Amino acid sequence: MGPFNFLAIVLLFACLVRASSDSSTNTLSVHLTSGSFAGESLAANGTERWLGIPFAQPPLGSLRFKAPVAITRPSQILRNATQFGNACPQAASAGLGASISEDCLFLNVWRPSGTTTRDKLPALVWFYGGAFMDGAASDPSFDPTRILARSVTIGKPIMFISVNYRVNTFGFLPRLVKHEPQLASSHVPTEDLNAGLLDQRAALTFLQDNIGMFGGDPAKLNEGTSFSQSLLNLNTPSAEEDAAFVTFIKDLMIDPSTITNSTFDTLISLYPANDSSLGGAFNTGDSLYDRGEAWYTDNMYLSARRLLFAKAAPLQPLFAYFFEEFIPGNPTDLGVYHGSELGLLFGPVPNSIEDDFANQLTDFYINFINDLNPGSQWPQYELSTKKVLQLMRNNVTVIPDEDDIPQLCCGPGAVSKIVSRSQMFYAASLENLSVNGSSGNSMPSD
Ligand SMILES: *[C@@H]1O[C@H](CO)[C@@H](O)[C@H](O)[C@H]1NC(C)=O
Ligand SMILES: *[C@@H]1O[C@H](CO)[C@@H](O)[C@H](O)[C@H]1NC(C)=O
Ligand SMILES: *[C@@H]1O[C@H](CO)[C@@H](O)[C@H](O)[C@H]1NC(C)=O
Ligand SMILES: *[C@@H]1O[C@H](CO)[C@@H](O)[C@H](O)[C@H]1NC(C)=O
Ligand SMILES: *[C@@H]1O[C@H](CO)[C@@H](O)[C@H](O)[C@H]1NC(C)=O
Ligand SMILES: *[C@@H]1O[C@H](CO)[C@@H](O)[C@H](O)[C@H]1NC(C)=O
Ligand SMILES: *[C@@H]1O[C@H](CO)[C@@H](O)[C@H](O)[C@H]1NC(C)=O
Repeated sequence: MGPFNFLAIVLLFACLVRASSDSSTNTLSVHLTSGSFAGESLAANGTERWLGIPFAQPPLGSLRFKAPVAITRPSQILRNATQFGNACPQAASAGLGASISEDCLFLNVWRPSGTTTRDKLPALVWFYGGAFMDGAASDPSFDPTRILARSVTIGKPIMFISVNYRVNTFGFLPRLVKHEPQLASSHVPTEDLNAGLLDQRAALTFLQDNIGMFGGDPAKLNEGTSFSQSLLNLNTPSAEEDAAFVTFIKDLMIDPSTITNSTFDTLISLYPANDSSLGGAFNTGDSLYDRGEAWYTDNMYLSARRLLFAKAAPLQPLFAYFFEEFIPGNPTDLGVYHGSELGLLFGPVPNSIEDDFANQLTDFYINFINDLNPGSQWPQYELSTKKVLQLMRNNVTVIPDEDDIPQLCCGPGAVSKIVSRSQMFYAASLENLSVNGSSGNSMPSD
């Protein structure tokens, strides 16, 4: 499945530029705190890029399962930065764009052709999703050429940086090991827990110190940030459906043993079988799938996003969106699924009917990266009004963040059979939020 747990969030830094300006004759040679690197020009794409730049020491040997350690003794040799660095350890997959190795703490930088250190461009920093289980900055679907071209076209050029961070056991030890009474995390010091999040933070610190060498502005660093599908077409007998629904929920919990049967009974009644008005409201014709999808959306995305917004909206500007566009050609069973808007951002735009809408969506991002505000069409999320922008072709409009979310029909061919909810994403400046990385539990996922 596509990316899961993708957060488009924004970090605002206000520190000083520590790296000094580069006076080298070759403008694509940069001297960074982790070494010197030669980038390459992709004239046809209108970009220049540096791939595979190390931002921390390789987390090997005694550094395995440890918080990332900064590079303090950079090599003086000019290295070729034209190949992606390794992807972090995870299950093999065709879409990684690089080989897998524990030596994986690399980032990649793209900028519009001809950018100079005087330009001080704002930057979008992209952390892949993947439920903290998989993903890689080298994934070809995260090629930013389209976004950069659009930013130049509308006169608001940006840079793009994609970052590797450790995932699964290597980055998030606290996952429960099946059949083990002890959490794996009990074996490592607290300050090393959630090393994957600490990797992200180390990359941001590195960029803070070095982005100026690429023509970026360290004060304008922005961070972009198997579920119910496993239930599809199981043909579970009606008499067993409630039990299968409860099993699905239990399997997503770290420790379901403390949840009472009456709680599960309540969930069964809140997400009833074959009910087109409550819970299973998607009408795919697969009742168990509909219920699982409804529960998953509410519990894994909507409630988490609302909790964050309830806490953070009083602290600083937040902007919420609700992507409701069913892209023609996508599987109707999946409807408007989590991450389906990424094709409109990175391209290639999957269907030319979406071209204008894709530009509109991309412009919101570019505006936000330049101005920390996506534009006048999009009101800030405030607790008194709870306004969310509905993103849908031909109907970009402000809607309330209500208890229940409108159910959507997915366009031509779907008729009334397939109705799906989309996912809520958000963009937030995190300046005033606590982002401590060592809180113990990683997200349950499957
Ligand atoms: C040029 O950009 C396209 C995306 O528009 C990308 O697929 C391609 O890989 C880029 N070329 C190179 C050499 O990176
Ligand atoms: C850098 O790598 C590119 C692509 O592999 C290659 O064409 C180029 O010759 C290399 N440059 C150096 C200095 O090694
Ligand atoms: C849901 O509806 C279908 C079709 O009418 C029916 O076959 C099935 O038994 C129902 N499931 C439950 C759990 O009631
Ligand atoms: C809870 O439900 C499960 C599965 O139906 C059953 O095996 C168990 O005995 C129930 N527990 C209690 C305390 O009722
Ligand atoms: C963070 O909080 C301070 C103090 O309340 C405020 O001045 C600042 O604007 C806030 N930052 C953001 C990005 O909202
Ligand atoms: C646009 O979306 C709003 C909010 O969901 C809805 O009330 C309205 O009917 C839609 N307009 C059209 C033309 O579909
Ligand atoms: C976050 O870390 C800071 C500094 O280590 C500490 O003072 C603060 O209490 C932590 N906040 C939370 C919520 O853990």
